Amino acid sequence: MQYQHNFNPTISDEEIFEKILDEKEIIGYYNLPQQDTDEYKEFAKNVHQTNIVVIGIGGSTLGTYAIYKYLKHSKQLDKKLHFLETTDPIDIQSKLENINLNDTLFIVISKSGTTVETISIFKYIHSLVKINKDNCVVVTEDDSKLRTYADINGMRSFDIPKNVGGRFSVFSAVGLLPLAIVGLNIDDILKGAKFVHDSFFEKKSFYNRLINKARFLVEYKNSFNVNVVFSYSSRLEGFNKWYIQLWGESLGKVDINSARQGLTPIGIIGPIDQHSFLQLIMEGKRDKTITVIKVKNFYNHLKIPDVTLEGLENLDYLNGLEFSELINKQADATIEAVNNLNDIPCDVITIDGMCESAIAALMYEYELLTSLCAKFMYINAYDQPGVESGKIILKEKLMQKGNS
Ligand code: PA5
Repeated sequence: MQYQHNFNPTISDEEIFEKILDEKEIIGYYNLPQQDTDEYKEFAKNVHQTNIVVIGIGGSTLGTYAIYKYLKHSKQLDKKLHFLETTDPIDIQSKLENINLNDTLFIVISKSGTTVETISIFKYIHSLVKINKDNCVVVTEDDSKLRTYADINGMRSFDIPKNVGGRFSVFSAVGLLPLAIVGLNIDDILKGAKFVHDSFFEKKSFYNRLINKARFLVEYKNSFNVNVVFSYSSRLEGFNKWYIQLWGESLGKVDINSARQGLTPIGIIGPIDQHSFLQLIMEGKRDKTITVIKVKNFYNHLKIPDVTLEGLENLDYLNGLEFSELINKQADATIEAVNNLNDIPCDVITIDGMCESAIAALMYEYELLTSLCAKFMYINAYDQPGVESGKIILKEKLMQKGNS
């Protein structure tokens, strides 16, 4: 008697790990923590402009924004990083109004080199300031049209390896070049990512942690389809946005059996969203997992003073408390309240503090988690066929307009 099937079997931890190891031979992001950073640091040393404007969108900006937003107030940076991402005209104008364009280095970042948003904004910049090799640098694939533009104009360009996808590219030139230029320690960034890389691939603590989590999220995805990241620091607002892109664009796919897959990312900020989305978590449908992200050390001692306000004496228990202690206690209270309900899957990631390695470790952890979930779902995390049709329609419409 013979038996054949084409349905997805339950897969063991070892098999998943083997699949990731095979993928590591082909997919470039896994190995970025081991790269040499000299060319970025060398270039950064000679940048004299005060303003650094990154022009790009999606994977070409979100990761850099996440790291910069996390660290910019905790580091002494003498350059300012700005991001031009959207075609919203008011956003473009208002951002540019506040930047001295004659003291600006433009970094145009696009893997494909032809993204409408990026190139439209770059064209607009040409109408405001003379763009040349002294105030513009390009980050793109080695054979893109944007590379051709850079070559024709004698501009410096940096490579995005072909096997590193946009949303997985933060630890390539895409993130490291601008972050090095503004004065962040990119070796520490890679150190943080490498710590998680080594722990996972050497089957230390991140091995079980990530495989167990990915397995849970996928096996229970029909019950808990929404994955809420509840970040207890406004500094993680950029990370939340990056997570939403990474999770949504990587995991919303059709699997090898033509079944639609996907997990829905939500990113919220504590304590602000305690006064908003938390009600839905606590009493709404049981379709969500919660990951609370806490910052162990804010390296900030801002305090609530020992002040009694007439009429508000019953809030004197706040006196003398550091804000960093308060926000972490608020996170703990939320975690306890969620756990008391016993029916909401919840995990807590506590990152070390306001330093390069901490945010990088968190981001690399999420990249690995995304790859693992994709493997469990039998989908390709690295393409995005769903966003192509809109781009084709837009191009047709714009070309028709041009012809009429
Ligand atoms: O993750 C992705 O691949 C996308 O989000 C891209 O980063 C985004 O579309 C921008 O593409 P490009 O870098 O080619 O301009």
